[in-house]
Amino acid sequence: MLRRVLCTVLFMGALPSLAEVSQGHISVVLLGATGDLAKKYLWQGLFQLYMDQVSSGHSFTFHGAALTALEPGQRLMFDVLKKLACPPDESPNRCAVLKDQFLKLSQYHQLKTAENYTVLNREIETLLRQEGLKEAGRIFYFSVPPFAYTEIARHINSSCRPPPGAWLRVVLEKPFGHDLESAQQLAADLTSFFREEEMYRVDHYLGKQAVAHILPFRDQNRQFLDPIWNRHHVERVEIVLKETVDAKGRTSFYEQYGVIRDVLQNHLTEALMFLTMELPANVSRAEEVLQCKLQAFQSLRGLNKNSAVLGQYQAYAGQVQEELQKAQDYISTTPTFAGVLIHSDSLRWEGVPFLLTSGKALDERVGYVRVLFKNRAYCTQSETLRDAEHSQCKAKQIVFYIGHGALNTPAVLVSRNLFRPVMPEGSWREAVGQSDLHIFGQPLSDYYVYSPVKERDAYSVLISNIYHGRKDFFITTENLLASWAFWTPLLDSISHQPLRLYPGGVENQHLLDFEMESGEVAFTLAEAVELLNPNRLTPSDYRTIQSKFRQSPLVSAWSEDLISQLASDIEKTASRTVARSGQFHLALSGGSSPVVLFQRLARHHYAFPWKHTHIWLVDERCVPLTDTESNFFSLHNHLLQSVRVPYFNVHPMPVHLNQRLCVEEDRGTELYAKEIVALVANASFDLVLLGVGTDGHTASLFPKSENGLEGAQTVVLTESPVKPHQRMSLSLPLINKARQVFVLVLGKGKHDITILLSRVGHEPKKWPISGVSPSSGQLVWYVDYEALLG
Ligand code: BG6
Repeated sequence: MLRRVLCTVLFMGALPSLAEVSQGHISVVLLGATGDLAKKYLWQGLFQLYMDQVSSGHSFTFHGAALTALEPGQRLMFDVLKKLACPPDESPNRCAVLKDQFLKLSQYHQLKTAENYTVLNREIETLLRQEGLKEAGRIFYFSVPPFAYTEIARHINSSCRPPPGAWLRVVLEKPFGHDLESAQQLAADLTSFFREEEMYRVDHYLGKQAVAHILPFRDQNRQFLDPIWNRHHVERVEIVLKETVDAKGRTSFYEQYGVIRDVLQNHLTEALMFLTMELPANVSRAEEVLQCKLQAFQSLRGLNKNSAVLGQYQAYAGQVQEELQKAQDYISTTPTFAGVLIHSDSLRWEGVPFLLTSGKALDERVGYVRVLFKNRAYCTQSETLRDAEHSQCKAKQIVFYIGHGALNTPAVLVSRNLFRPVMPEGSWREAVGQSDLHIFGQPLSDYYVYSPVKERDAYSVLISNIYHGRKDFFITTENLLASWAFWTPLLDSISHQPLRLYPGGVENQHLLDFEMESGEVAFTLAEAVELLNPNRLTPSDYRTIQSKFRQSPLVSAWSEDLISQLASDIEKTASRTVARSGQFHLALSGGSSPVVLFQRLARHHYAFPWKHTHIWLVDERCVPLTDTESNFFSLHNHLLQSVRVPYFNVHPMPVHLNQRLCVEEDRGTELYAKEIVALVANASFDLVLLGVGTDGHTASLFPKSENGLEGAQTVVLTESPVKPHQRMSLSLPLINKARQVFVLVLGKGKHDITILLSRVGHEPKKWPISGVSPSSGQLVWYVDYEALLG
C-alpha cells in the first residue's frame, strides 16, 4: 500500500520525480504515535518537516507505532492526522495537497513484540528495494515512558538498524532518570544499543526560538557584550518559567518528579548554560559548544538546602490523593514551586546571583531569561534616558523572552541605553511595540525589541534539527550527567524540607516572593499557615483551621509554639531588613499578651540584630515610665534589660512631659510623630506588633474613638474605657503604612472576638482592629489554638 502511495506522491506534478530523489529515502518511526505529545506537537512537527523538505531531494515515509492493535490504533492515529493544521504563512492550496500526501505516506504499525519490529524492518527494506530508492536514514522518535526505553532500544538495535551507509537517529524524550544514579543507569543501558552520535535527547526548550538564539546573540554581539558580560557589570540573572496550569491529570508523573526535576534540571539549566558558558569559536559546532558547557557546569558552586525555597499549591495534595488513590492523611513532599539561587565560581561570574524560578498554579504563564545590569551611575543624560522617580539612569537589561506573558511572542529585548543589537536578518525582525505595554517596569519603547519573522513551535524546530543532524540542539550523555551531578545533592538535601503552601493563581500575592541574603534564599513573608505540632490536634480541629484569617495569612499553633514561631519570624524579618537597609524599626504594643513574646525574644541574644534595631512603642498608658502599669516599664523589664539595643535606638512615648501626664499643650504626640518622621523612612515601620482586645480594640484605639481611626494625625491621645483611661497611640493610618503588621491573639478569652472578627468586614469604628489593612505591606495573624478553636 505504502509503495503505491510513495510512487503516486513522487510522480505528482509539482513535486520531485523519483529520479530527483537522489538524496535517498528517510523513514520516520514515531513510537507512541497516539499519545498526548504526539497528538499535541509531534505529528504537526513531522508534517511541518514534510512541507519544508518535500523538495529537498529526500523522499519520506512516516510510520506511527504504538502497542494498540492495528485497527483501533490506525483509527486513533488518523483522527489526529486529519486535524493537522496549515501554518498561516503557507498557501492553503499547497498545504492541502501536501497534507493529503502526508496522510498517504503515513501508516500505523502495532509494535509490541520482537517479531513486530522485524516485520517493520522488512517492510521498509522491501519498499525501498521495489522503488529502487537508496536509504538515507531512519529516525525513531521515542514518545513513550522511559521504562519502555531499554526494551524498544534492544529491538531497534537488533532488527531495525538501517544498512551501512545510512544513518540511524533515535530521539528520546525526558525524563532521563530522576537523579544522577538513575540517569547513569539509563545512559549505560542506552549506550549498549546506540552510539552517542545516534542519540538525540530532546529538551524542547532548546527548540524555543528565544532560548535557541542566546548563543547566536552572544556570538553576533561580541563587540558590545565582551566588556559587559561579566560580574563587574551584571547585577543578577533571572531564569523563569511560570505556569498557571497545575499538575491535575499528571500527578502520577509529577508526584515522582516535582518542579526541580521536571523543569529546572533541564529547561532552565540549559538556558543557564547558554548564558554562563564561555563562547566557543564556532557556536554551531556541537562538540565545541559541549566542551564549553561542560566547563560551565564545572564552575557551578554546589547547592545546599538553603539555596532553594520550595512550595506546593494547596489543591495538589487532594489531587494526588484522588488520582493516585492515596489515603486522606497522605502528605506529599513534592514541590510544585521552586526558587533556586545559583552561583558560578568562574572568573567571569563570581558573585553574580542566578535565580531559577518555576512553579505550577502561579498567577501568569510566562518564560524569560533576564540579564539585569548594574545601575549605579548618576545619570547625566537627558530625561528620556532617565528613570524619573529615582533620577537614576534607566535600568539596563537584556531579556530573552521565551513566550506567553504580556508580549505573547518570543522576543529578544535590549535596553536602548545598552546598544542596538545585531540580529540575523531574515529570521528576526524589529517589532513595532504597543506603546502602553510595560516589560519589567519599563515601557516597551525603552527597548530594542526583536521577534522571529516566522514563529515556530519548539517541536517543529527540533524535528527539523534532527533531520539536519544538528546535534547542538540536543542533550548529550555528558551534558545530561553533568546536570544531574549538579542537581542531585540539592534534591537529596531537600527531600524532607517543609514546603510553603500557596493557594494558587493571583491569590498567591507576595507569598512566594523570596530574597537573597549571604548566598542563601528565604521567603520574604512569614509563613502563611503553620500548624505546629499537628499531632496534638484532633482530626475535627483540622477542619476549623484555615490558612487565612480575614483574607490575610494565618499562623496557628499552641501558644508556646506560636510564640517561639513569632519570635523567630520577627528575628528573620529583622535580619533581612538590616541586610537590606542597615536598620530595623520595630513598634511593639503594650498589654499582657506580648509579655510572653518579650520574654521569648529576650533569649534571642546572638542572631537578632539588636544593635541595628530601633524599638518604638505602639501605645502607652499615661503614667510615668517607671510606673508598673507603663507599657514601657513592662517592655524594659521583660526584654530591653536583657538585650543590647543601643540607648538612642529606644523610643519610649513622651507621655510624661513638664512633670504632667498627656497634656495636649505639651505636644507629646507631635514630638513622637516628628521623631518617627526623622528616623523611619517614609514613616513606614518595618514591623508593627499588635494585639486585640476582647472589644476589638488594638493599640490604644478603642471602639468609637474620636482620634486615630482616620485622618492625618499619626500619633494621638485617646481614652480607654478601663483604667488608666488616658492613652497615647499610633493611629490606624500610620500603622497601615507599615511594611509588615503581625497581630498576636492568645487565649480562650479571645475566642469570641476571634470568631466575630472572622465574620465582620472593615468597620474600624466598631472594631478598630478591623481597620488594620496595610496599604502596601503585609498583615499576618498569629492566633493560638485556644483563641481560634475555643
Ligand atoms: C515540560 C514539563 O517539560 O515543560 C511540563 O514536563 C511543563 O510540566 C512544560 O508544563 C512547559 O513547557 P512549555 O513549552 O509549555 O513552556
